[in-house]
Amino acid sequence: MEVLALALVIFTFSITIFGFRRWSDRDTKLPPGSFGWPVVGETIQFLFGKPEKFVGDRMKKYSPDIFKTKILGEKTAVICGPNGHKFLFSNEQKYFAAFRPHPMQYIFRSYQTKAPAAKPPEVPRDETKVLRQPGFLKPEALIRFLGKMDSMTQLQLQTHWEGKDVVKAYPLAKTITLALACRFFMGTDNPDRIARLVQHFDDITVGMHSIMLNIPGTIFHRANKAAAAIRTELMSVIKEKKDAMESGVKMQDILSHMIVITDSSGKFMPEAEIADKVMGLLVAGYSTVATTITFLMKYVGLNPDVYEMIRAEQMEIASSKKAGELLEWEDMQKMRYSWNVICETMRLVPPLQGTFRQVLTEFTYAGYTVPKGWKVYWTVSTTNMDPKYFRDPQKFDPSRYENGEAHAPYTYVPFGGGPRTCPGKEYARLAILAFIHNLVKYYKWEVMDPLEKVNGDMMPTPEKGLPIRLHRI
Ligand code: HEM
Repeated sequence: MEVLALALVIFTFSITIFGFRRWSDRDTKLPPGSFGWPVVGETIQFLFGKPEKFVGDRMKKYSPDIFKTKILGEKTAVICGPNGHKFLFSNEQKYFAAFRPHPMQYIFRSYQTKAPAAKPPEVPRDETKVLRQPGFLKPEALIRFLGKMDSMTQLQLQTHWEGKDVVKAYPLAKTITLALACRFFMGTDNPDRIARLVQHFDDITVGMHSIMLNIPGTIFHRANKAAAAIRTELMSVIKEKKDAMESGVKMQDILSHMIVITDSSGKFMPEAEIADKVMGLLVAGYSTVATTITFLMKYVGLNPDVYEMIRAEQMEIASSKKAGELLEWEDMQKMRYSWNVICETMRLVPPLQGTFRQVLTEFTYAGYTVPKGWKVYWTVSTTNMDPKYFRDPQKFDPSRYENGEAHAPYTYVPFGGGPRTCPGKEYARLAILAFIHNLVKYYKWEVMDPLEKVNGDMMPTPEKGLPIRLHRI
């Protein structure tokens, strides 16, 4: 009896020890790092500290490859450096699927349940399928739109800046960008409508990465109010489109395409879903391009030698064209130096810090295991300012992309990489180049406050809107 009792004790003890060893083995394999405070985790530090400081401090403290944290309500592994980018971009759908943080899901999915903690589906719906599939952002479609991009940019510059001495760069960058996006995605260029929309978009962009506190005065509340206002505007666009289509007018924009497509069961997309999807596209294509144009004006304004080189390149193209002739695809391929300047601007002020993924299957990276269901975050900030990859990283120096000084693979990824690479990359390139072309053709400018404070970390914004003094050439 005693022997049996002793055997039972030894067995129970062994199971406990074995179980504990297995548990602790598993635990030591999790990435190093901290989940921070209960409930909020490290969300405050993530949202309100400088993004490169958030990742830089933790890479130093825990590991340069991967660390764990808890942000926006999710256990998250931050995967770092060029090898991390490569691993992430190469394993899409094997280990990772797209994941939008909860505030973003809430703001953009009015047509679904609003339960904030609604569990994401095992394999999330691909919100961008419609953009990638029918060829809307493919070169053929962009070539057709390029002339319009050029003429709309000219018109906006004339309307808002002609004859003025001191102007603000940021508001015009936003109006031009939104006007182009409204035209491209919705086939509308009603200036009153664009003016009504522009005031709401910043609130949404900031609210996408915010604490989900839906009470008056909070960032999240403002974002939801802005989204409701935009939705109302979009619903009236949808109605106009439907009426026009019924009377036989042919439409070529993305919104009209969403109205006519059906799912596998033959059902049309509900209007509320169309409105949310179009709003998502407008947001994706709006603040990124507007931010790049604005900081490009800042850096070029502060570097007269760079201005002169851009102008020489653009004037050579301009002088090869007849009066009134619009930009063409071949012209854009000649704008190599101007593109380098855009790249350098995006390195110093990334228009988008990074994005999240959902872990589909447990995986191991750099010796650490990340469980299924966790989220993964990648960010340009783990490489952009690292002197290992970019000499004198604080310096604005577009020449670093010339003379064979190519950056190492996966160190410069402003548009992401792999299957989820930004589908708007080419559109953005053309929109910003068309803007530069028209700007330097007619203007020189001085930045009035070179030390102007930059607010916002997820969406950098010059505090006073970047006032500049214009000189008509
Ligand atoms: C300078 C401008 C832009 C930059 C730097 C930029 C950057 C990015 C980055 C880093 C991503 C995330 C990629 C990933 O998760 O791996 C992304 C995704 C996306 N971008 Fe852009 N973007 C820009 C402009 C645009 C424009 C103009 C559009 C629309 C016309 C657009 C539409 C999108 C969409 C729909 C996604 C989500 C793709 C997906 O999840 O599959 N972007 N962008």
